[in-house]
Amino acid sequence: MNTKILAIESSCDETAAAVVEDGRKVLSSVVATQIDKHVVFGGVVPEIASRLHTESISIVTEQALCEAECTLSDIDAIAVTAAPGLIGALLVGVGFAKGLSFSSGLPLVPVHHLRGHIAANYLAHPELEPPFLCLVVSGGHSHIVEVRSYTEMKVIGRTRDDAAGEAFDKTARSLGLPYPGGVHLDKAAQGGNPDAYKLPNPRIDGAPYDFSFSGLKTAVINTIHNAQQKGEEIPVADMAASVRKSISKILTERFIKCAQDTGYKTLALAGGVSANSELRSRMTQACEKYGYKLYVPPLSLCGDNAAMIGAQGYYELISGNTADLSLNAKASMEISKSFND
Ligand code: KG4
Ligand code: ZN
Repeated sequence: MNTKILAIESSCDETAAAVVEDGRKVLSSVVATQIDKHVVFGGVVPEIASRLHTESISIVTEQALCEAECTLSDIDAIAVTAAPGLIGALLVGVGFAKGLSFSSGLPLVPVHHLRGHIAANYLAHPELEPPFLCLVVSGGHSHIVEVRSYTEMKVIGRTRDDAAGEAFDKTARSLGLPYPGGVHLDKAAQGGNPDAYKLPNPRIDGAPYDFSFSGLKTAVINTIHNAQQKGEEIPVADMAASVRKSISKILTERFIKCAQDTGYKTLALAGGVSANSELRSRMTQACEKYGYKLYVPPLSLCGDNAAMIGAQGYYELISGNTADLSLNAKASMEISKSFND
């Protein structure tokens, strides 16, 4: 018998629901993005995000069930992103999933958002199984994770300050590009000179796999401010290309070094920043050079969605990682921890 999971995701600015079979097959995936509502503010406004999740969560879930040609009686468990993320946003999904679990009697499966990003790869690559090494790069996190099994993870590299996505978003904003900056900066970089600006690449003593992007972000902002004070124009394409090159080079170099030192030959990318065109091509080239097998999610599964939560939810369910109705959301939580710890 196949196991069908109804998954809910509301950790940031997308309200999403999906039905996933056996952790690998997407029967439906519905994403209602709030981007057009936050764009005027230049970033996500948490209270607005929560209110919009509340408005759309039932309809998105109904649509996911309908597109999967299911009713709740065909579903085996309810999975929900319970950490990390904007707390008010997470609470909408968690409260809704608890209500569904209470009324249907189905098991409730809390899922760590970043574990979900990693699991997006299982949906696209049927042959991929742990163990492997994964670079998880999103708006709030930049981690190198040892995926030892479907439910055992260890972080062996992390950012000391800004996440890669945050660095993309803040530099994009200072260049006058709209929110969410990463994707716009990626486009603006086409045709720019990636060597026009030399940006910092700090290393952390004794932590060869850690990152630090705040110096790069500050250097870009200062360069733009200095130019503005002198009445000069910064060539947007050149600066965007320089930022994209610096960030994707730093991520690729540290990730490959980590693979060499740890001996992993199977590597994966995950999270919104894994949509970056230069990061994808640099990683592909480096993995070809060193003989590593690289898995990358399709663009449709790089950003936030509920299908990835359904994929990870399946593996959490079969490992017995369910929760009772006292489940609460957490704004932050280590990826290595279980909700029952
Ligand atoms: O995983 P995600 O959708 O949400 C979080 O869990 O944070 O990641 C969002 C991040 C944002 O910082 C966004 O600008 C970045 O991913 N992003 C990109 C690209 N597409 C999305 N960054 C660089 N290049 C892109 N093409
Ligand atoms: Zn995410």
